[in-house]
Amino acid sequence: MTTEVSGERLAGLARYGSVHLLDEVASTNDYALSLASKHVTAIVIARRQTKGRGRFRRQWYSDDASLTASLLLLTDAPDFPHPSFLVHLAGLALSRAVDETVGLPTQIRWPNDIIIEDRKLAGILCEGRRNAVAVGIGLNLNQESIPEDLPDAVSLRMATGKQWDKFYLLENFLQEMFASIAKTGKGESAQVLVDIKQRSATIHRRVEVRTLLRKHVGTVIDLDAEGRIVLRTDSGRLVVLGAGDVRRLT
Ligand code: BTN
Repeated sequence: MTTEVSGERLAGLARYGSVHLLDEVASTNDYALSLASKHVTAIVIARRQTKGRGRFRRQWYSDDASLTASLLLLTDAPDFPHPSFLVHLAGLALSRAVDETVGLPTQIRWPNDIIIEDRKLAGILCEGRRNAVAVGIGLNLNQESIPEDLPDAVSLRMATGKQWDKFYLLENFLQEMFASIAKTGKGESAQVLVDIKQRSATIHRRVEVRTLLRKHVGTVIDLDAEGRIVLRTDSGRLVVLGAGDVRRLT
């Protein structure tokens, strides 16, 4: 089976790196990282993943109607941002790309979910190895419905009633991603952080954050310069967290 993509779209994607269109792969992140020795930025797109994963090694649901892709970035590139900030740059880029493509506002649920009407539209998984990081994005695009065991999830089609071109959306994402990376490279991270905060569905909210070790309950009072959440817990302590699962309580 072939993946249909117009020459114009392919050329648009190829402006950002070498393009790899796959029918089936275990995980686009693994495939992207396997290309790291070639020392070129790469974009890997798959119709299907057999072992797609999310954060904390959870299984990631996707099908042919999803946008399933990874961007391989080289850590020795001149503008390469702090690795822990990358997921936040990707969140901003994907949120903007969806807004530009469909004209509906999305938000970022810290640290890596894109939500629309309070339901999860997309997730981002950044994974590094030696000289490269794979920024994996999984977005529910043209599904008419989502499996019932994923009640928090929604597709762009379900939210808009229309079908969308995954390659157009991906090109918008790449454009936004490289624009944000360039901004941080020029020392404009503070402005980028403002943009991230403006789209945050988590800031100023009362939340429960589950980390690998424990659970925290409190109010998110800020995101720090590295994109970590600053939480004032119900017991009055300030806790700074770089990873975790957030559930909004208000
Ligand atoms: C999450 O929400 O936990 C992150 C999900 C990330 C899924 C994408 S799909 C493309 C890339 N390949 C993977 O195996 N995972 C990411």
